Amino acid sequence: MKLDGKVVLITGGASGIGLAAVKLFLENGAKVAVADINASSGNQLIESLPHEHLAFFKTDITKESDCHQTVQNVLSRFGAIDVLINNAGIEIVSPIHEMALEDWHRILQVNLTGVFLMSKHTLPHMLEKKSGSIINTGSVGGLVGWPDIPAYNATKGGVIQLTKSMAIDYAAHQIRVNCIAPGIIDTPLNEKSFLDNHTESLEIVKKEKAKVNPMLRLGKPEEIAGVMLFLASDLSSYMTGSVVTADGGYTAR
Ligand code: NAI
Repeated sequence: MKLDGKVVLITGGASGIGLAAVKLFLENGAKVAVADINASSGNQLIESLPHEHLAFFKTDITKESDCHQTVQNVLSRFGAIDVLINNAGIEIVSPIHEMALEDWHRILQVNLTGVFLMSKHTLPHMLEKKSGSIINTGSVGGLVGWPDIPAYNATKGGVIQLTKSMAIDYAAHQIRVNCIAPGIIDTPLNEKSFLDNHTESLEIVKKEKAKVNPMLRLGKPEEIAGVMLFLASDLSSYMTGSVVTADGGYTAR
């Protein structure tokens, strides 16, 4: 699965699944550009993992000017973008009848518009060089109704449909577009959500959540990063428009 010399641009790479992917991609010889809204986490990443093939670009993926600028910065720094991983995302827990319109807009902007904007500004480069792999981070919530996060599920359903549609449009240009749909992964996103929405300790909530999966445990960020590496590499060269679940068997029932 070596990605020697390939340039990977990953959004949300300063935390959780994205951070695990950054480390795995570097280990596999890639040049990695991290685009994240959180400058302190991004700078911390560069300090803790100094590497000539790692760069951080502060980016708010909901802002078109940021997306355009980051793509240009990555091209200037590394000369190409071979793989785009649209991974940044947020979760908002709220039933629809209590959800503020601004929260609805916010989650759509980050989870869906962000994928559109980063793809829009990366695709001209991939079209020019007639190759590329785009990997979108969906969720099992885009495939089945996961309780308490209807807006999140709607955004991830949108990500899956966008993946399939882009896969068809760009297949003849040798640009592959795939989606990974993780189950519950042990990351800061979930820890925050568990703490905000439960009175029990984090440890107890994690144990309870683990029970919903046939494998009876939460996933690790590295277990999603591994699927991203496979989708980025030539081992998946005949895959496009695929939605790959990595969910401890949750959607197999
Ligand atoms: P995380 O919260 O650990 O990391 C998300 C990263 O995205 C953070 O570094 C954050 O600063 C960044 N980000 C947020 N808004 C941004 C914006 N506007 N512009 C640029 N960067 C922004 O989350 P985690 O768990 O690693 O999630 C990564 C992806 O995986 C998300 O798309 C999430 O929806 C998806 N996912 C996560 C699951 C889980 O159980 N943790 C399950 C299924 C999908």
